[in-house]
Amino acid sequence: MEVRAHAKLNLTLDVLDRRPDGYHDMRMIMQSVELADILDLEYNETGELRVCTNLHFLPNNEKNLAAQAALRWYEGETSQEVGRWDMEDLKRSSNFNGLDIRIEKHIPVCAGLGGGSSDAAAVLRALNEMEDACLAPESVAGIGALVGSDVPYCVIGGTALAEGRGEILTPLPPLPKCWAVLCKPEFSISTPALFAKIDSVRLRCRPDTQGAIAALEAGDLQGVARRMYNVFEDALPERQRARVNDIKNALIQCGALGASMSGTGPTAFGLFDDESAAREAQEHLQDFGGEIFLTRTL
Ligand code: C5P
Repeated sequence: MEVRAHAKLNLTLDVLDRRPDGYHDMRMIMQSVELADILDLEYNETGELRVCTNLHFLPNNEKNLAAQAALRWYEGETSQEVGRWDMEDLKRSSNFNGLDIRIEKHIPVCAGLGGGSSDAAAVLRALNEMEDACLAPESVAGIGALVGSDVPYCVIGGTALAEGRGEILTPLPPLPKCWAVLCKPEFSISTPALFAKIDSVRLRCRPDTQGAIAALEAGDLQGVARRMYNVFEDALPERQRARVNDIKNALIQCGALGASMSGTGPTAFGLFDDESAAREAQEHLQDFGGEIFLTRTL
């Protein structure tokens, strides 16, 4: 079975409190875009779970979130005790004969675009169909929460408010269709390190999440774009923050209705209601280096 794993953008991202379990309570509006990895899942008779990707530096073992998703799937079918399985357990399971997961990456890695989480979500959605399990999307998302905080959202997709660790989802009225230009600078950001840093940073500004939801309800693309903001921008090291700001300013100068950073970054994006302005922005940003993408919201 071939499945698409779409990238996500954070239209708003707010970090609330640090919790006793070490995670943070979040409030963020998520949006899927057409940019996607393509996964191919095929049963094999080797008894092995094999993962391969077109990027040599990505793990092909349990460290790959797509493999973890498959492990959690088969674990759920046989055991109440989650989170302890590994590849060896999988081989001993009577209802597992072998599976190949091939991933063609198009979403940049460690970019704040949810690529790994979306691959994991795609594996769970595919297995739900391949195995005729007929689990409701909320149940598939529940298994996804065992793999990573953004996986439940990636199972459901669309426009949604994510709270708690990211697993409490409320569907929102869809963002009016528009173009998004994405620019991922050359550096990468460690998600756990940025979460650790945000506890000690004085946040200068917080997103108007409620205002953005009201704008979605009114179908007001400009109103949403104007309110886009991500508190992690304040926690970036100075040089990286300056770089993200330069990209955002360039996007706005090219006619973006609003610009922000996605997730823990470093990808910055702008929303456009006009295709030719979006294409010009894509062209203009080539001079900035990094990886540039033009895509549409879903
Ligand atoms: O859940 P996931 O594995 O994607 O999270 C990666 C890391 O990000 C966690 O280990 C934690 O440090 C941080 N995190 C957090 N609060 C969240 C989500 C992630 O502190 N809501």
